[in-house]
Amino acid sequence: MTQDQSNAMWGGRFAAGPDAIMEAINASISFDKRLAAQDIAGSRAHAAMLAATGIISDTDADAIREGLLTVLSEIEGGAFAFSTALEDIHMNVEARLKEVIGEPAGRLHTARSRNDQVATDFRLWVRDQIDAAVTGLRALIGALLVQAEAGADWVMPGFTHLQTAQPVTWGHHMMAYVEMFARDMGRFSDARARMNESPLGAAALAGTSFPIDRWMTAEALGFDRPMANSLDAVSDRDFALEFLGAASICAMHLSRFAEELVIWSSAQFRFVTLSDRFSTGSSIMPQKKNPDAAELIRAKIGRIFGANVALMTVMKGLPLAYSKDMQEDKEQVFDAADNLMLALAAMEGMVRDMSANRPALEAAAASGFSTATDLADWLVRELGLPFREAHHVTGRLVAMAEAKGCDLPDLSLADMQSVHADIRADVFDVLGVHNSVASRVSYGGTAPEQVRAQVARWKERLG
Ligand code: ARG
Repeated sequence: MTQDQSNAMWGGRFAAGPDAIMEAINASISFDKRLAAQDIAGSRAHAAMLAATGIISDTDADAIREGLLTVLSEIEGGAFAFSTALEDIHMNVEARLKEVIGEPAGRLHTARSRNDQVATDFRLWVRDQIDAAVTGLRALIGALLVQAEAGADWVMPGFTHLQTAQPVTWGHHMMAYVEMFARDMGRFSDARARMNESPLGAAALAGTSFPIDRWMTAEALGFDRPMANSLDAVSDRDFALEFLGAASICAMHLSRFAEELVIWSSAQFRFVTLSDRFSTGSSIMPQKKNPDAAELIRAKIGRIFGANVALMTVMKGLPLAYSKDMQEDKEQVFDAADNLMLALAAMEGMVRDMSANRPALEAAAASGFSTATDLADWLVRELGLPFREAHHVTGRLVAMAEAKGCDLPDLSLADMQSVHADIRADVFDVLGVHNSVASRVSYGGTAPEQVRAQVARWKERLG
C-alpha cells in the first residue's frame, strides 16, 4: 500500500492503510453520526474560545464556525456522504470542513483531542435524553392524575400476592404510579445535575500547554463548570451509566404497570378497556383485542437493563485514561434511550385512552372477603377484643361464609353471633367496600379524601 492510503487525520507515521476488517471493527460512523449536532456545537464553542484566547486568529475562527454550520446543514439535509474510512463523526465533520473552508480547518483541532471531544459530545447527547425522559415522565404523570382525579372514589380490589387483600380506590392505585414515576424524574434530574460538567479542554488525557479557557467553552455549551481532572474527564462514562440506571428503574416501573394492564384488560378481569388506538387484533381469532403496547413496554426492560449491564461490563476493567473499548458506549445508550422514550409515550397514550370498568372493579372489590380486616378492626374497636383474637373470630366467619358460598356481608346476624355472641347489627356498616375505603384516612391511605389530597399536591408541584 502507498502512503496515500493511510489515514489523512493520523496517518503520518503509517506506511499502509488499514485492512478492511480493521476498518470495519474500528469505524463508529454508522452509529456516532447521531452525535453530529453535539459535535458541531462543541467544535464551534472550541473555535470561539481558541480565538478569544489568541490561540488562533479571529478570521480563522469565523471561517471555522461558519463552515461548521454549512456542514451541519448538509448533515441535517441528508446530503452528507459519511465515510467509513474517516472512522467517526469527529473526523467526518473535520474532513468535510476542510473541503468547505480549506486550510483554517486544520487549526480547529488545536488544544483538543478526540478523547475530550467524544466525551463532550456524548455528555451533551445524554443530557438531551435526560431532558426528554423528564418531559415524557411529566406527560405520563399528567395522564395518571386525570385518571386518579376521575376515579378518586371508585373502589377496586387491592392485592397482595395477587390475592384479594383489601378494597382500595382506583385513584389510589393510579397515584402509586405517580409517586414511582416522580421518583424516576428525580433520578434523571439528579443525574443531570452531576453530569453537567464539561470535559472539553482535557485534551487527550493530560490537559494542554495552550492557554485555553475551559470555563468559556463550558458556559457556551450550557455546562455548569469544566471537569476538574483531565484524566477523569476523558475516561469515565458514569454519566451514561447513571442515565441507564435511571432508565432501567423507570423501565421496571413501566413494566410493572404494563403487566397490570395486561392482566386488567383480560376477559377474566375486565377491569379496564384499552382503546383501539393502543391495541391490535389477531389475524385468526376475530374476537381478539390484544394489549400489545403494554406487552412491548413490559419487554423493553430487557434491552434497557441489558444496555446497563453491557456498558458496566465494558467499563469495569479499563485502566485510565481513554481506551477504544469506550467507543462501545454509544449504541447501548442510543438503543436504551430510543426505547425508553417510546415506552413512555406509549404508556402515556394508553393511560390517557383507557377506561376503567367501574361495575367490574366494584364487584371484584366486594368479593374475596376483602373487608375481613375491617371486621377484625370492628371487633377490636367496638368489643375491645385483642387483635389476635379478633383475627381468629374473623377467620372463623370467613370459613363459614366460604362454606355457605357467600361473602361476609351476606352472613346473617345470627350466623355472626354463633361465632361471637356480642357482635351487633352495626357490624354490617363496616363490611361494605365504600365504607371500608372511606375509613382509611391515615396519611397516604386509600380514602377518597386522601387520594384527592395526593392529586392536589402533585398538581401544585408540577404546576
Ligand atoms: N470514535 C471514538 C469513540 O467513540 C472517538 C475517540 C477516539 N479516540 C482515539 N484516541 N482513538 O470513542
